[in-house]
Amino acid sequence: MVARIDGHAAGAGAAASPASIRASGPAQPEQVPWSPACTTATDCTLHQLAPYIGRIKTTIANYLISEFTSPGHRVLDPFCGSGVIPLEASLLGRQVIANDINPYGVLLTRAKLYAPKSEAEALERLRAHWMAAERRLCGQDLRTVPRWVRAFFHPETLRHALALRDELVARSEWFLIACLLGILHHQRPGFLSFPSSHLVPYLRDKLFASDKFPELYEERDVLSRMEAKVRRTYRRPPACQMPSAVFQGDSRRLRLSGTVDAVITSPPYMNELDYVRDNRLRLWFLERKLPRQRDIPKRDREVQFRALMRTTFARIAPHVSNRGVIVLVVGEASRGERVIDSSSIITSLFSRVDALAMFRLERVIHDVIPDIRRSRRDLRGTKRETVLVFRNSVSDQVARPGMPTRQALRESES
Ligand SMILES: C[S@@+](CC[C@H](N)C(=O)[O-])C[C@H]1O[C@@H](n2cnc3c(N)ncnc32)[C@H](O)[C@@H]1O
Repeated sequence: MVARIDGHAAGAGAAASPASIRASGPAQPEQVPWSPACTTATDCTLHQLAPYIGRIKTTIANYLISEFTSPGHRVLDPFCGSGVIPLEASLLGRQVIANDINPYGVLLTRAKLYAPKSEAEALERLRAHWMAAERRLCGQDLRTVPRWVRAFFHPETLRHALALRDELVARSEWFLIACLLGILHHQRPGFLSFPSSHLVPYLRDKLFASDKFPELYEERDVLSRMEAKVRRTYRRPPACQMPSAVFQGDSRRLRLSGTVDAVITSPPYMNELDYVRDNRLRLWFLERKLPRQRDIPKRDREVQFRALMRTTFARIAPHVSNRGVIVLVVGEASRGERVIDSSSIITSLFSRVDALAMFRLERVIHDVIPDIRRSRRDLRGTKRETVLVFRNSVSDQVARPGMPTRQALRESES
C-alpha cells in the first residue's frame, strides 16, 4: 500500500488554503496513518454481516473517527452504504446519523446499529419468526418470482427463504433480514443458493456442474443456516451501541436538525460501481422487486457527480459545528485511458461554492487500493482513494469579509 500526505497542516489553526494546497505540489510518500493490516479477525463481527461493493475498510473508518471526533460527538454519514462508518462511530461512543439511497445499504446499517442485545435474544426472535413464517409457506407462488432469481435456488429452499423473508419484513426485523441476505448466495454449503459468487451474484455452474456436484443442488435447510449465521455474527459483539438515526433517501434532500460535529463519508465513485446491478439478488429479495436505478446516470457522470456533491454538501454545511469537519474518502475514476481525479473536483467545489466557503482543506491523504481489495480486478475502475479533510473555519470570517454566516446559510436553505 502506498500512501502520501499532501499539504499536511499540523492542527486546525494551520489549515492550508486551497490555493496553497495547489501550490504545494506532491509531498514525499509517507506511511498511511491507519494500519494497513487486515482486521477481519479482530473487528466486531457485525461488520461481517453481509458484503457490499465499495465498502470502506474498518481501519480507515476507525482512524478517521478517532482522529477527527471525540466521544459523544455527532457524526453524519450521508452515503453510509453498508454502515461501516456508522457502526465504527457507534462502537467508539459517537452518536450517529446515517443515510443512503440504496435500501440494501440502509438495511445493513440499521441491522448493525439496532442489532439485538445478545446472541440468545437474536436466536429466540429468529425461532419465533420461523414458526410464524410456516403460515406463509403455502402462499409462496414461485411463478411470481422472476426466472433469474429462481435460477439461483432449489425451489423448496426458495419457498422457505421467501416465507421467512415475508415474516421478517412484516416485523421490521432488520438484523435478521440482513442475516438472511448475508447467507443468500455463495458457493459454500452454509449458504442458500446453488454455487455462486458472494459479492456480485453470478452462478458458478460451470465450475461446479450439477452432474459432478449433485449435493450442491439439493434443498438446503434455511433455519439451521440462519442460526449458524447469527452465532457467527455474535462471535465478537459490540461492547456499546450509541443513539442513532438511519434514513433512506437522496442525500440532496436530507433534512437535518441541529448540528453535527463531523461528516465522515465515502461518496459514490462517479458511478464506477453500480450499487443496484451488483446487489441485484439481495435487493430483489429485500423488496421483491428491483428499485429504479438511482445512482448517478451513466451519461455526463462528471457533471452529475459535481452536481450531487455541490447540492449535498451545500445542504449539510450549515449544520456542521464551528471547527467541525467534513471528511471525504473519494475514489479516482477511469474512463478508458483517462483518469478522473474526483478529489480535485471536490477540492475545487469547496473553494468556489459560496455555501462551502467557510471550509478550509486541512489534510489530503492518498491511499492506493491494491488489486486484491478491488471488486473489479480487471485493472479498471477505482485504483486510488483520497481522503480530504475540510475544517469549518467560520470563526475566521473577519479575515474573509462577505462570507455567508451559518445562520444565513440555514435560512437560505430552508
Ligand atoms: C462508496 S459507497 C459507500 C460505502 C460505505 N462507506 C460502506 O462502507 O459501505 C457510496 C454510497 O452512495 C450511495 N448513493 C449514491 N447516490 C446517492 C444519493 N444521491 N443519495 C444518497 N446515497 C447515494 C450508494 O448507494 C452507495 O451506498
